[in-house]
Amino acid sequence: MLLHGTGGNERDLLPLGRELDPDASLLSPRGKTLENGMPRFFRRLAEGVFDLEDLKKRTHELADFVTSVAQHYELDDKKIVAVGYSNGANIAASMLLLRPEILSAAILFRAMVPLVPEKQPDFSSRSVFISAGSFDPIVPASNTKELAESLRTAGADVTIRFLQSGHELTTADVDLAREWLSGKN
Ligand code: MLT
Repeated sequence: MLLHGTGGNERDLLPLGRELDPDASLLSPRGKTLENGMPRFFRRLAEGVFDLEDLKKRTHELADFVTSVAQHYELDDKKIVAVGYSNGANIAASMLLLRPEILSAAILFRAMVPLVPEKQPDFSSRSVFISAGSFDPIVPASNTKELAESLRTAGADVTIRFLQSGHELTTADVDLAREWLSGKN
Protein backbone atom coordinates (compact mmCIF):
# COMPACT_ATOMS: atom_id res chain seq x y z
CA MET A 1 0.00 0.00 0.00
CA LEU A 2 1.51 3.27 -1.14
CA LEU A 3 0.79 6.45 0.84
CA HIS A 4 1.86 9.73 -0.73
CA GLY A 5 3.05 12.95 0.91
CA THR A 6 1.21 16.27 1.34
CA GLY A 7 0.19 17.68 -2.05
CA GLY A 8 0.76 14.36 -3.78
CA ASN A 9 -1.68 11.88 -5.21
CA GLU A 10 -2.21 8.18 -5.81
CA ARG A 11 0.06 8.14 -8.87
CA ASP A 12 3.20 9.55 -7.17
CA LEU A 13 4.58 6.43 -5.55
CA LEU A 14 3.63 3.84 -8.20
CA PRO A 15 7.15 3.83 -9.75
CA LEU A 16 8.61 3.48 -6.23
CA GLY A 17 6.29 0.55 -5.50
CA ARG A 18 7.38 -1.14 -8.73
CA GLU A 19 11.03 -0.61 -7.82
CA LEU A 20 10.59 -2.01 -4.33
CA ASP A 21 8.85 -5.15 -5.54
CA PRO A 22 8.04 -5.65 -9.25
CA ASP A 23 5.72 -8.56 -8.42
CA ALA A 24 3.65 -6.98 -5.66
CA SER A 25 0.03 -5.88 -6.11
CA LEU A 26 -0.04 -2.12 -5.54
CA LEU A 27 -2.81 -0.35 -3.69
CA SER A 28 -2.44 3.41 -3.78
CA PRO A 29 -5.21 5.50 -2.21
CA ARG A 30 -5.38 9.29 -2.35
CA GLY A 31 -5.52 11.16 0.97
CA LYS A 32 -9.08 12.35 1.61
CA THR A 33 -8.28 15.62 3.39
CA LEU A 34 -7.45 18.81 1.52
CA GLU A 35 -5.14 21.55 2.82
CA ASN A 36 -5.31 24.55 0.50
CA GLY A 37 -6.17 22.14 -2.30
CA MET A 38 -3.35 19.71 -1.40
CA PRO A 39 -4.38 16.14 -0.63
CA ARG A 40 -3.29 14.73 2.75
CA PHE A 41 -4.27 11.72 4.83
CA PHE A 42 -5.35 13.74 7.87
CA ARG A 43 -5.66 17.35 9.01
CA ARG A 44 -2.93 19.26 10.78
CA LEU A 45 -3.10 22.44 12.83
CA ALA A 46 0.43 23.55 11.84
CA GLU A 47 3.51 21.88 10.42
CA GLY A 48 4.20 18.87 12.65
CA VAL A 49 1.16 19.63 14.87
CA PHE A 50 -1.61 17.18 14.10
CA ASP A 51 -5.39 17.29 14.56
CA LEU A 52 -5.47 14.13 16.66
CA GLU A 53 -9.21 13.55 16.40
CA ASP A 54 -9.06 13.71 12.63
CA LEU A 55 -5.89 11.58 12.57
CA LYS A 56 -7.59 8.82 14.58
CA LYS A 57 -10.74 8.95 12.47
CA ARG A 58 -8.80 8.85 9.18
CA THR A 59 -6.54 6.06 10.43
CA HIS A 60 -9.53 3.81 11.21
CA GLU A 61 -11.18 4.79 7.93
CA LEU A 62 -8.05 3.83 5.97
CA ALA A 63 -7.62 0.58 7.94
CA ASP A 64 -11.25 -0.40 7.18
CA PHE A 65 -10.74 0.50 3.52
CA VAL A 66 -7.65 -1.72 3.30
CA THR A 67 -9.53 -4.61 4.86
CA SER A 68 -12.42 -4.37 2.42
CA VAL A 69 -10.16 -3.88 -0.61
CA ALA A 70 -8.05 -6.90 0.39
CA GLN A 71 -11.23 -8.99 0.48
CA HIS A 72 -12.54 -7.57 -2.79
CA TYR A 73 -9.31 -8.20 -4.75
CA GLU A 74 -8.52 -11.41 -2.86
CA LEU A 75 -5.21 -10.06 -1.60
CA ASP A 76 -3.39 -11.90 1.17
CA ASP A 77 -4.30 -9.75 4.17
CA LYS A 78 -1.40 -11.22 6.15
CA LYS A 79 1.11 -9.68 3.77
CA ILE A 80 0.16 -6.02 3.54
CA VAL A 81 3.16 -3.70 3.61
CA ALA A 82 2.60 0.04 3.94
CA VAL A 83 5.08 2.27 2.14
CA GLY A 84 4.63 5.89 3.13
CA TYR A 85 6.42 9.14 2.49
CA SER A 86 6.10 12.11 4.87
CA ASN A 87 2.37 12.59 5.59
CA GLY A 88 1.79 9.09 4.14
CA ALA A 89 4.47 7.67 6.47
CA ASN A 90 2.79 9.39 9.40
CA ILE A 91 -0.61 7.80 8.75
CA ALA A 92 1.12 4.44 8.21
CA ALA A 93 2.79 4.85 11.63
CA SER A 94 -0.56 5.80 13.10
CA MET A 95 -2.10 2.65 11.61
CA LEU A 96 0.70 0.58 13.16
CA LEU A 97 -0.07 2.11 16.54
CA LEU A 98 -3.89 2.01 16.41
CA ARG A 99 -4.64 -0.95 14.13
CA PRO A 100 -1.53 -3.16 14.33
CA GLU A 101 -3.40 -6.16 12.90
CA ILE A 102 -3.70 -4.55 9.43
CA LEU A 103 -0.03 -4.37 8.40
CA SER A 104 2.63 -7.04 8.40
CA ALA A 105 5.41 -4.54 7.70
CA ALA A 106 5.94 -0.88 6.96
CA ILE A 107 8.51 1.23 5.16
CA LEU A 108 8.42 4.76 6.51
CA PHE A 109 10.26 7.55 4.71
CA ARG A 110 10.63 10.79 6.75
CA ALA A 111 8.18 9.74 9.47
CA MET A 112 7.50 11.26 12.86
CA VAL A 113 5.56 10.25 15.98
CA PRO A 114 1.93 10.66 14.86
CA LEU A 115 0.29 10.08 18.25
CA VAL A 116 0.71 8.20 21.50
CA PRO A 117 -1.80 5.31 21.69
CA GLU A 118 -3.90 4.85 24.82
CA LYS A 119 -3.13 1.17 24.98
CA GLN A 120 0.18 -0.43 24.14
CA PRO A 121 -0.14 -2.28 20.81
CA ASP A 122 1.46 -5.67 20.25
CA PHE A 123 3.86 -5.60 17.34
CA SER A 124 5.57 -8.92 17.70
CA SER A 125 6.25 -10.32 14.22
CA ARG A 126 5.90 -6.87 12.62
CA SER A 127 8.89 -5.39 10.79
CA VAL A 128 9.44 -1.69 10.19
CA PHE A 129 12.06 0.09 8.12
CA ILE A 130 12.47 3.78 8.87
CA SER A 131 14.52 6.01 6.61
CA ALA A 132 15.26 9.52 7.84
CA GLY A 133 17.15 12.55 6.52
CA SER A 134 19.90 13.87 8.80
CA PHE A 135 19.20 17.41 7.57
CA ASP A 136 15.41 17.15 7.44
CA PRO A 137 14.02 20.61 8.37
CA ILE A 138 10.52 19.16 9.01
CA VAL A 139 11.25 16.01 11.02
CA PRO A 140 13.79 16.32 13.86
CA ALA A 141 16.06 13.26 14.24
CA SER A 142 15.01 12.95 17.89
CA ASN A 143 11.37 12.56 16.84
CA THR A 144 12.15 9.77 14.35
CA LYS A 145 14.24 8.00 17.01
CA GLU A 146 11.34 8.30 19.46
CA LEU A 147 9.03 6.66 16.90
CA ALA A 148 11.52 3.82 16.37
CA GLU A 149 11.81 3.32 20.13
CA SER A 150 8.06 3.19 20.73
CA LEU A 151 7.63 0.60 17.94
CA ARG A 152 10.53 -1.44 19.37
CA THR A 153 9.10 -1.31 22.88
CA ALA A 154 5.89 -2.78 21.49
CA GLY A 155 7.83 -5.68 20.01
CA ALA A 156 8.45 -4.66 16.39
CA ASP A 157 11.66 -5.48 14.57
CA VAL A 158 12.77 -1.95 13.63
CA THR A 159 15.57 -0.91 11.29
CA ILE A 160 16.34 2.80 11.24
CA ARG A 161 18.73 4.51 8.82
CA PHE A 162 19.80 8.15 8.65
CA LEU A 163 20.82 9.41 5.23
CA GLN A 164 22.75 12.52 4.21
CA SER A 165 19.63 14.25 2.93
CA GLY A 166 16.77 16.54 3.83
CA HIS A 167 13.02 15.83 3.67
CA GLU A 168 13.22 14.76 0.02
CA LEU A 169 13.35 11.13 -1.01
CA THR A 170 16.63 10.00 -2.59
CA THR A 171 17.73 6.99 -4.62
CA ALA A 172 19.68 5.82 -1.54
CA ASP A 173 16.36 5.62 0.38
CA VAL A 174 14.87 3.45 -2.34
CA ASP A 175 17.94 1.19 -2.59
CA LEU A 176 18.08 0.60 1.17
CA ALA A 177 14.34 -0.04 1.40
CA ARG A 178 14.45 -2.50 -1.53
CA GLU A 179 17.34 -4.36 0.05
CA TRP A 180 15.52 -4.50 3.41
CA LEU A 181 12.28 -5.71 1.82
CA SER A 182 13.97 -8.40 -0.25
CA GLY A 183 15.47 -9.79 2.98
CA LYS A 184 11.90 -10.10 4.38
CA ASN A 185 10.37 -11.99 1.43
C1 MLT B 1 2.64 15.91 8.25
O1 MLT B 1 1.88 16.87 8.25
O2 MLT B 1 2.27 14.73 8.16
C2 MLT B 1 4.09 16.23 8.34
O3 MLT B 1 4.28 17.55 8.73
C3 MLT B 1 4.80 15.94 7.07
C4 MLT B 1 4.24 16.74 5.93
O4 MLT B 1 3.25 16.37 5.38
O5 MLT B 1 4.85 17.76 5.57
